[in-house]
Amino acid sequence: MTTGHVTVTDEGQVRVLRLNRPDKKNALTDAMYGTLSDAIESAAGEAAIRCLLMTGGPAAFTAGADLQDFLLAARGEGERSTSVRFLHCLAHAGKPLVAAVEGVAVGIGTTLLMHCDYVVAADNARFQTPFVHLGLVPEAASSLLMPRLIGPRRAFELLVMGRPFSAADARAAGIVNEVVATGEAEAAALKAAHHIAALPAEAVALSRRLIRGAPAEIVARIDAEAELFRRRLKSDEAKAAFEAFFNRKG
Ligand code: COA
Repeated sequence: MTTGHVTVTDEGQVRVLRLNRPDKKNALTDAMYGTLSDAIESAAGEAAIRCLLMTGGPAAFTAGADLQDFLLAARGEGERSTSVRFLHCLAHAGKPLVAAVEGVAVGIGTTLLMHCDYVVAADNARFQTPFVHLGLVPEAASSLLMPRLIGPRRAFELLVMGRPFSAADARAAGIVNEVVATGEAEAAALKAAHHIAALPAEAVALSRRLIRGAPAEIVARIDAEAELFRRRLKSDEAKAAFEAFFNRKG
């Protein structure tokens, strides 16, 4: 199934969600968030699907949310509710989530990984969360999950200072499980996804729930961040940053 810039295919027991907007580095539009959410939600009721894999193909994982949508929201010309729906889907996902990262993983490209169970990165992967540089605040419950995963000081370095992390940095910090050669992330992630899919499904689901805890705390943080994010989108700092991005080439 292809909807806009996302392709969803079932490869055996693995549902593959492939971002396919390479000319924009897979920047995520509202429509793309919608397709991803539908694919995750529908997998919950399909016993044949035992694992989900998110990939951006060889060009880029994703350059994050589409800054054009941010600019419209900043000008009061659009709302961004589908991205919050997508984040809720990640928090509630009952099946294991695997990600394959090649190239840039900016903004939500990094923060969505906090919701994944297994992450493979190519050695060209570059992780960055420039929320504060854009006049914004962290999203996707990253203000909760990232300090837990990598410690508060490294989380500050990423989430507030916006410093980029290499694949090796991300592996050392515990954001990534495996680093492979450029061009090999998707194949390695698919192999891991098939491995997970072959495990006893009920035992996987129960164990995963024990590891992750109840989703309520995560959903509450997603919503609290989203409220601040919505307000910050309309701030002068954010508007200036979005305009600077689109004017940067000339
Ligand atoms: N939203 C909308 N368009 C984006 C985008 C985004 N988040 N990221 C990249 N693009 C577009 C660029 O405008 C460009 O389009 P154009 O060819 O029509 O000018 C195209 O994708 C390629 O990007 P470009 O900047 O030329 O590639 P690069 O390799 O030099 O840099 C990035 C890649 C990801 C480092 C850079 O594009 C970037 O910083 N993007 C913004 C990331 C961001 O701030 N995301 C939001 C986080 S909350």
